[in-house]
Amino acid sequence: MKCIVDIPRCLPIILGVVLGAGTISLKAQAQPVPAGEPTPLYLDTNQPMEARVNDLLGRMTLEEKIAQVHADSKFSTAAVPRLGIPRRWIDDGPHGVREDVGPYSWNPSGHTDDYATWMPALSALGSTWNVDLAAAFGDVIGQESRARNKDIILAPIVDIARTPICGRIYEYLGEDPYLNARLGVRYIEGVQSNDVAACVKHFAGNNQEEGRGTINMDMDERVLREIYLPPFEAAVKEAHVWAVMGAYPKVRGEYCAYNNYLINQVLKGEWGFPGLVMSDWGGTHSTREAALGGLDVEMGTLVGSEDQSAYTNFFLAARFLDAIRTNGILMSVLDDKVRRSLRPMFASHIFDPVRLPGALNTPEHRATAQRIAEESMVLLKNDNQALPLNVSNLTSVAVIGENAVRHNAAGFFGAGVKTMYEVTPLDGIEQLVGTRANVTYSAGYSRFGGDSNLVERAVAAARQADVAIVVAGLNHSRHQDDEGWDRTDLRLPYGQDELIQKIVAVNPRTIVVLVSGPAVELGPWLAQVPALLQAHYSGMEGGHALARILFGQVNPSGKLAVTYPKQLSDSPAHALGTYPGTNGTLFYKEGLLVGYRWFDAKKIEPEFPFGFGLSYTTFEYSNLKVVPGGGTNGPVATAEFDLTNTGSRAGAEVAELYIHHNNPSLPRPVKELKGFKKISLNPGEKQTVSIPLNQRAFAFYDPAKAGWVAEAGDYKIEIGSSSKDIRLDDGFHLAQTLVGK
Ligand code: BGC
Repeated sequence: MKCIVDIPRCLPIILGVVLGAGTISLKAQAQPVPAGEPTPLYLDTNQPMEARVNDLLGRMTLEEKIAQVHADSKFSTAAVPRLGIPRRWIDDGPHGVREDVGPYSWNPSGHTDDYATWMPALSALGSTWNVDLAAAFGDVIGQESRARNKDIILAPIVDIARTPICGRIYEYLGEDPYLNARLGVRYIEGVQSNDVAACVKHFAGNNQEEGRGTINMDMDERVLREIYLPPFEAAVKEAHVWAVMGAYPKVRGEYCAYNNYLINQVLKGEWGFPGLVMSDWGGTHSTREAALGGLDVEMGTLVGSEDQSAYTNFFLAARFLDAIRTNGILMSVLDDKVRRSLRPMFASHIFDPVRLPGALNTPEHRATAQRIAEESMVLLKNDNQALPLNVSNLTSVAVIGENAVRHNAAGFFGAGVKTMYEVTPLDGIEQLVGTRANVTYSAGYSRFGGDSNLVERAVAAARQADVAIVVAGLNHSRHQDDEGWDRTDLRLPYGQDELIQKIVAVNPRTIVVLVSGPAVELGPWLAQVPALLQAHYSGMEGGHALARILFGQVNPSGKLAVTYPKQLSDSPAHALGTYPGTNGTLFYKEGLLVGYRWFDAKKIEPEFPFGFGLSYTTFEYSNLKVVPGGGTNGPVATAEFDLTNTGSRAGAEVAELYIHHNNPSLPRPVKELKGFKKISLNPGEKQTVSIPLNQRAFAFYDPAKAGWVAEAGDYKIEIGSSSKDIRLDDGFHLAQTLVGK
């Protein structure tokens, strides 16, 4: 039961569901009714939200209004106690509610009640291709935000993974706008069903870390509309997200946080976004431009002195107040911002007698984290059924690699979480194997540099073991998976390529597990190793999930949400030499050809394609029919086909639907993902899968018409197990051109 648009009207339903489930009870809140006065309209839950917003706005002084549009600490805006407006607490982040800092410094607060469930990274969520898990993820984040008394949570990130070396790619869902949109929508719904506002970020063009504070991103209108904006558009139109964070860079010369075109025209104008736009931390650079360009709340500007008074120097603080007083900026501009700030508060029941209290660090949340980790891991190679391992046939297992024991929860900047524990890969393997086999561990390399003894010891351990498991990859060090810096190349650091080569030379039964956000270059050893599993940063239960996959208790079902190139120069941003920009500007020369669209168009063989992932079982696709209409909500067409588990294990398959337009009037990518479904099947089980295709699925954005055009003509509908493994196709004729917004 979701209740996003008008939460007050749904309150009885929420009450029924939540109390009926017996999981949590509602928390009574203080009501700020001045003594001897009638209850003001804004506290009357029977009134429509807009009437309550306007009533409260009408009672606020100019100074009180100004206080709502800028931060008063690292993660809050000021209270107005007289009217019962509480201090509004904001926090990161995408992978779990961040530990408390400050309030006036970045140092941890030292609180003991700010532990949270550490969830798998968003790049792992992307690889599940499971929209219900995205909702469950968001629900955990929402519940924990409430339990930690947060009002706005700075998640999810739906920026497109344009280059594989982007330092934050592990925080991103993937390279495809449709996949990001589907997962982002359900994540937001999950968060917001808990009386918390989600803040989708970073709008738009935050596609690399290099130069992000000032760089000017430029792209054609079609590219903006078809690749970079759709996940945000879906967040607004479908998930009714209450907050949007402007990105650090500029788009077409204007800073994103107050980019008149992006915010005033598209987001608030065309899409009708009623909520607030906040800046990224330090992403505001002027008063007038910010105020008029659509920024509603200025956050996180780096202040000289670390105390509360410094926040009055914000661009949307004293200087904005002066501009209003002197009529330099109209009061209506401020009022609009305050309304946008108040709406999410009403939607989150901040002014109501009861508000969902959430729950923190529960066994259910940890189970969700584990389930997501299990569904996210991608089996990339499995020659001769090297996996799963059968523990009863093993006497010794050599676990190798620093990532087998390294803790990653702390992350960096906003992506870290203070977790109560972290099950590492080694913990998970040891616990699952128990006393049934001898598990040894050797680091094999050190992030502090060359110690040849480490390599020798690891090689010796691998030589003696029945099987070697090398847990390789990246970590959150600078120039790896880290905010603020991109990677400098695609290779594994710390001599891991050589280490893997040496291990597999002495033990051909070597399984490589990758802990990383993005792709790494695999060429130096891929041909020699029989099995490779992408495990991501997989949250506090990640080690258990990994062990269960390695030993066959769970059948892997993740699929890549990004293309793995053989080398960096194969990927579009690098093939065309546009990265990292020239003289402060980066033009997205590859246009629509981001990710697999580029590899398809240029016929470049990737190491592993978008959408790829193996299973311990096999699936057969048959009987595709694409029929006009069908389903609910009036789709233009529906694709129906049968999926059968033809192997001997239960498993889940992501069936992917791509559209090809045979004769478009404007150039289009060879294929575009427009539907997918993840289906669990027992051995021998067959299911008919139905994927509806709405008008937008057929459409491209036509700048001349300023709209989405689904052109009459012939299309090919392809159903695949990956973007390169198309199993079925059928033609579809669209009789009439359809134009939409
Ligand atoms: C990041 C945001 C984050 C904010 C607050 C910024 O540097 O870009 O994603 O929410 O910091 O931590």
